[in-house]
Amino acid sequence: MDINRGFGAGLIRLVFHDCFVRGCDGSVLLDSTPKNTTSDAPLTLAGKTEKASPNNGGLRGLEVIDAIRLRLAEKGGRAGRKDGVVSSAEDPGKHLPNPTDNFQQLLQSFMAKGFNLVELVALSGAHSVGVANLTSVAHRFGAPINNVRDFDDSNRKLAGYQANGVVDLTAVGYLDNSYYNANFQNMVLFNSDWELTTNETAKLHMTSYKEKASLWNTAFADAMTKLSKMVESKDPLYEIGSRRTCNVTNQMSYP
Ligand code: HEM
Repeated sequence: MDINRGFGAGLIRLVFHDCFVRGCDGSVLLDSTPKNTTSDAPLTLAGKTEKASPNNGGLRGLEVIDAIRLRLAEKGGRAGRKDGVVSSAEDPGKHLPNPTDNFQQLLQSFMAKGFNLVELVALSGAHSVGVANLTSVAHRFGAPINNVRDFDDSNRKLAGYQANGVVDLTAVGYLDNSYYNANFQNMVLFNSDWELTTNETAKLHMTSYKEKASLWNTAFADAMTKLSKMVESKDPLYEIGSRRTCNVTNQMSYP
């Protein structure tokens, strides 16, 4: 398989969007299928799965999940995780933050999932990689919408970007602490990113992460590990072990 850097960004976002909604149960991977409709409750609520939610617009990297799962199985990797059988398009909007959110709204949606302010700041650093669709940034038209990581040097100079604190500015597409530096210079994509600079405590942590990459590396790794272990669902129905393919449940109907 060709190495596509976009998969990395896609997969990081996928973990976030799966785990904040019914815990890390793979419910975000399920397709809406003819059987997977309201009449087959509890598979979905509104006849469409989480993928159909506006919050999940632009999700990518899903095509590599089955390949990863197969490779893990060959290597005797982790088995026995609970795969959810409930996936509703109505859920992501209730749990995931929006790019138009203000600081309090962001903090609230993270705290509702057991994450504190520092973890919100650390996890937001994921926005050093990846892309956004027009619909996600439309709220900022009239404001600068630049992702400095995708600029070449001359464009960065034109935009007045100061690279202080960023470990390797030429590393376009790499996950690193450049997000914090960019954010202090208003060069981030979403209103929600910028909102972090409006809170003094968040700013203190952003400054530390900007100045000390190793601090962010550790904080991000810890918070991602915590995120990927979220088990939250009270759904009585699960498939234990791996689905045969990740986008459909093994059994299409349940009692
Ligand atoms: C703090 C609240 C957050 C908001 C409001 C938010 C919102 C968004 C939005 C609107 C997009 C663009 C989607 C598109 O148009 O295709 C995006 C992309 C992305 N987000 Fe977030 N996000 C947040 C937190 C996070 C967290 C915690 C992570 C992971 C730890 C994350 C990882 C990513 C990645 C990697 C992308 C790029 C995906 C790609 O290139 O396919 N975000 N985010």
